Formats: sequence, structure tokens, C-alpha cells
Amino acid sequence: MKAARLYAMGVVGAVAWVGALIAVAGCTSEQGGKGHELYVHYCSHCHGESGKQNEGFNWSSMPDPKPKDLTNKSEMSTFKDEDIFNTISRDMKDTTDVAEGGDEIGDDDFAVPTMPTFKYTLSEEEIWAIVGYVRGLHGGKMEFKVEERKKQLEAALLTAKTNLEQATKAYEAAEKQASEEAEKKSEALKKDVEPDESSYANELAVMVKAKKELDAAQAAMTNLVTRPGKGTSVARPDLTIKPDQLAKTVALGQRLYENKYGCNGCHSIGPDGGKVGPALDRAGFRLNGTWVFRWLKNPQAMNAESRMPALGLSDADAKAVTLYLTTLKSMTTEEDIQKAAAAAAAEKAASDKAAAEKAKEEKAKK
Ligand code: HEC
Ligand code: HEC
Repeated sequence: MKAARLYAMGVVGAVAWVGALIAVAGCTSEQGGKGHELYVHYCSHCHGESGKQNEGFNWSSMPDPKPKDLTNKSEMSTFKDEDIFNTISRDMKDTTDVAEGGDEIGDDDFAVPTMPTFKYTLSEEEIWAIVGYVRGLHGGKMEFKVEERKKQLEAALLTAKTNLEQATKAYEAAEKQASEEAEKKSEALKKDVEPDESSYANELAVMVKAKKELDAAQAAMTNLVTRPGKGTSVARPDLTIKPDQLAKTVALGQRLYENKYGCNGCHSIGPDGGKVGPALDRAGFRLNGTWVFRWLKNPQAMNAESRMPALGLSDADAKAVTLYLTTLKSMTTEEDIQKAAAAAAAEKAASDKAAAEKAKEEKAKK
């Protein structure tokens, strides 16, 4: 019975910090200014501070389709607040053909990979603040009531907490009674009698169910008020790979980079791609694989203010993308080196020629 008792103690511990969570939720309600600040930090490089096309510094370097005009009232007002929320906070779809392993994409799915998701970076409350700001860009107003949602979640949390407290009391009383009966029997029979577990199995089941409901209510409240990656750390990855798997995994990594996570919307390789983040041409020379993997999984854990969002990469996806990036060592192929050598030789010939011409001129002057 020890296990169940320890479990009950865990349950009681969980109840104690619910109060603290509600206190945190209560003091984060300045919305308007926060939406503007977050938008400037995470969106304006692509969409422009006032939402107009070609206003953000990254707009013209992005692959097609280019970011939408968020000031276009007739188009933007066809979206519900929830639609905008779900665009900003969604799971990324792999736009590769289904036959080649891409995702099935329904009519109402937003599939553009070069618009990143913020689901794994910002709290729901922060995303709602951004939705409010986006509404203002086309002269609209957000109708969704974040304060009401918070109140509903708070009420649900308190109910779940009360239910668990009652269930715990009932369980403890039933267990105590069973122990007392067992003790009496032990005395009467002059030998050890175990408490009858089946006599409080029902109370235990009710308590376990109440604990699950409390966990769910807590998770809903946590998602609303705190950033998903907060306080998490990424374990050291295993980046070893069988030689015969390398080419396939690198190809998968490249596909994910372009067609699922839209990394090319913010980074360039060669002449193409966005310029919000550094060019990755020489990533294979400059960056360490373990570091890259950790960075991709949770940039905010390494730089809280990074404009690069956590994109929800699974370990397998992060490994493939990391292996792809470690192959990027521009100037390593024989062809690149020969090209560079030819260009350098041509440059030298041109400058030699210019010098010779200059010398000739000088001579002529004399
Ligand atoms: C890397 C560039 C980039 C960043 C950063 C970015 N977006 Fe986008 N956004 C896009 C692209 C590309 C599209 C899609 C254009 C299309 O489908 O025609 C888009 C589309 C949209 C749409 C239209 C949605 C629809 O259903 O058609 C909204 C709203 C939007 N973005 C809001 C935001 C907000 C808010 C942020 C910041 C939290 C943000 N975007 C960050 C590139 C970006
Ligand atoms: C919204 C823009 C954006 C998107 C999308 C994005 N990044 Fe970044 N990335 C950045 C910025 C900005 C930095 C610079 C570091 C910082 O902000 O702290 C960066 C840094 C990096 C670095 C470190 C580069 C260096 O030289 O230090 C790597 C590697 C990287 N990103 C890879 C990726 C990959 C792979 C993806 C797709 C899975 C991706 N990024 C998606 C904006 C973005």
C-alpha cells in the first residue's frame, strides 16, 4: 500500500501549486502594447510594421508566395479571429507531393512553409495579443475575449482542484478504515492481516481520475500564460548515422528545410533565400552539429530574444536538417575550387594588364 500512499502525496503536492499558477495568470493582462511589441519583433521583417507589402526588409528576398498584405481589409476581414490565431499557431505541413512522402493538406489548412509557426515559441495569450494588433492593421477589432477564456480556465482549474481535494479525503478515509479493520483482525487472530485493498479501490479510481482532470486543466492554463519552451532543455543528440543512410537523410533534411519548415524564408544558401538570419552556405565549416541540433529544437533556450522561432521539429527531423546543414561547405567541391581559382587568375590577369597599361602611359608621358 506504500505506493498508493506516495501517489496520494504526489497528488496533494500538485494541489498546492495551483494557487501559484492562478496568481501568475492574474497579473499578465496588458494586451495592446504587447501585441505591437511582439509583432515588431517576430513579424515585421516579413510583413512590415504597418502590414504593407514590400515594407519589411525581408519581403523582397523571400521565395514565392510573398507575405500577404495585412492591411487589405476586404481580404483580411474574411478571416475569423480564430483563423488568424490558427495561422500563427499551427503545425507545419510538408508541402512535398503526397506520393513522395509529403503531408495530406486539406482545403482549410494553411500550408505556406515560409510563414513560420509560433506555436512552440509564444504563449497563447501572446498570440492573441498579436491577433489583436493584426486586426488593427486593417482597421478591424478583435472580438475574441482573452480575459473571458482566462476566467473560464481559472474556474475549471478551481473546480478540478476542489474535486481532487474531496476525492483525496474520501480515499484517505477509506484507506484508514481498511487499515484499522486489518489491525483489529490482526489482534483478534494474533497474526498479521493485510488491509483489504478492494474495499477502497473505488475511491482510489475516483482520485486518479480527478488528478488527470486537474493535470489537463493545469496544462490548458499553462499554455495560455507561459511560453512552451520555457525551462526546457534539449538532451545531447545522437548524430551518428550509418554511411549508407547518410545521402538519404541529407536529402530528407534539405526537403524539410525548404518544403516543411521554410528555413529558406529567413536564411540564404547561395544567392537565394531570406535575410532575417545569417547565410548558411558555410554552416558545415562554421557550426558544430550538436550545437545546431540544440539550436533548431529550441533557439530561445540559447538566446531568449532570438527572432528565430522554435518550429516544433521532432528529433528525427532536427537530425536530418542538422546533417543537411553540416554538408554545406561552399568551396569544398573540386568544381568550386577550380571555379574560384579561375576567377582569381582572371582577376590577377586583369590587374596585371591594368598595371602594364598604366606603366605604358607613364612611359609615354615622359
Ligand atoms: C519569414 C517571413 C514571415 C514571418 C516572420 C511571418 N510571416 Fe506571416 N506570412 C508569410 C507568408 C509567406 C505568408 C503567406 C502568403 C500567401 O499565402 O500568399 C504569410 C501570411 C500571413 C497571414 C495571412 C494568413 C492567411 O490565412 O492567408 C497572416 C495573418 C500572417 N502571415 C501573420 C503573421 C504574423 C502575425 C507574424 C508574426 C507573429 C508573421 N505572419 C510572421 C511570411 C511571414
Ligand atoms: C523567422 C526567421 C527564421 C526562420 C524561419 C528560421 N531562422 Fe534560423 N535564424 C534566424 C535568426 C534571426 C538567426 C540569428 C540568431 C539569433 O537570432 O539569435 C538564426 C540563426 C540560425 C542558425 C545559426 C547560424 C549562425 O551562423 O550562427 C542556424 C544554423 C539556423 N538559424 C538554422 C535554421 C533552420 C535550419 C531553420 C528551419 C528549420 C531556420 N533557421 C528557420 C531566423 C530564422
